Amino acid sequence: MAEEPPHIPVLPAETLAMADPAAARVVVDGTFGAGGHARLIAAGLPEGARYIAIDRDASALQHLPAVAADHPGVAFEARHGTFADVIESLAREGVSADVVILDVGVSSMQVDQPQRGFSYRNDAPLDMRMDQSAGDPAADIIASADVGTLTRLLRAGGAEREARHVARAIVRSRDVAPIATTADLVRLVEEAIPAALRRRRGHPAKRVFQALRIAVNDELGQLERGLDAARGLLAPGGRLCVISFHSAEDRIAKRRFRDWTRDCTCPPEQPICTCGGMADFEDLARSGIVASDDERAANPRAASARLRGVRRRP
Ligand SMILES: C[S@@+](CC[C@H](N)C(=O)[O-])C[C@H]1O[C@@H](n2cnc3c(N)ncnc32)[C@H](O)[C@@H]1O
Repeated sequence: MAEEPPHIPVLPAETLAMADPAAARVVVDGTFGAGGHARLIAAGLPEGARYIAIDRDASALQHLPAVAADHPGVAFEARHGTFADVIESLAREGVSADVVILDVGVSSMQVDQPQRGFSYRNDAPLDMRMDQSAGDPAADIIASADVGTLTRLLRAGGAEREARHVARAIVRSRDVAPIATTADLVRLVEEAIPAALRRRRGHPAKRVFQALRIAVNDELGQLERGLDAARGLLAPGGRLCVISFHSAEDRIAKRRFRDWTRDCTCPPEQPICTCGGMADFEDLARSGIVASDDERAANPRAASARLRGVRRRP
């Protein structure tokens, strides 16, 4: 029986069409993961193209040799680190990219490794770092942040309704005993959330875990910095493709792309454009692209995915 792929890339055909790699010389993949999108893009690259694969999770980059072996005409290289840091350093090195792709969030492999603490369904230490060699694990944030900070980070990461109840419960509970495992946190969330709220929107721990993970890995800050760095890296005609899974992430991409593609810079109160401006970028999917019903049925992760993209005008 064929082995299950470790992570199914979302919006595969749509991402490939947006990246349009046929003439690309340099691709920067900020979120290599299991190399699912990398395989699709590499198959469409011309001979001799360079593919820079970034991931902050060193174990993801172990998939790179197999991808490279299947595409001998492409020069792959691995860079371990955050895409914000690596893209900024690529810009300093003078690299110019024809395609930059960011498929943000966690991979199925990460969620499926119980010991990493991403899932509320398995008991494990509260870690949630994508890069286990850097930064503070979730348990440290939970042990030290005050109610206001916890409330804000839970809200920012999507646990809006649960935020204050859970933040208060964390601070109350940690004075009695440390909150060290995912099971400790799930129990606390279940006790903290009123039954009515619990029934209405699925398991509340799901949103609390997502929000904590986003905070632990500074995912929103990474996306902001990563997009700004990618903007400077794009060659004329270069394309930037972003797949997000959360409304806060999508908002970041949407607002930046709207600003980057705005032609007219006249003051808003001026009825007629006199600047004749032409933005450096054009939008590749004004409202974003979401998965088809078939893809959602085959890959539940795709249900919340949205692809956006811009192209630097040649
Ligand atoms: C959704 S998966 C990408 C899957 C990949 N496109 C594929 O088809 O296999 C996200 C991957 O990006 C990595 N990642 C997430 N945020 C990152 C960041 N800010 N910098 C570098 N890597 C990041 C994660 O460690 C994970 O391996």
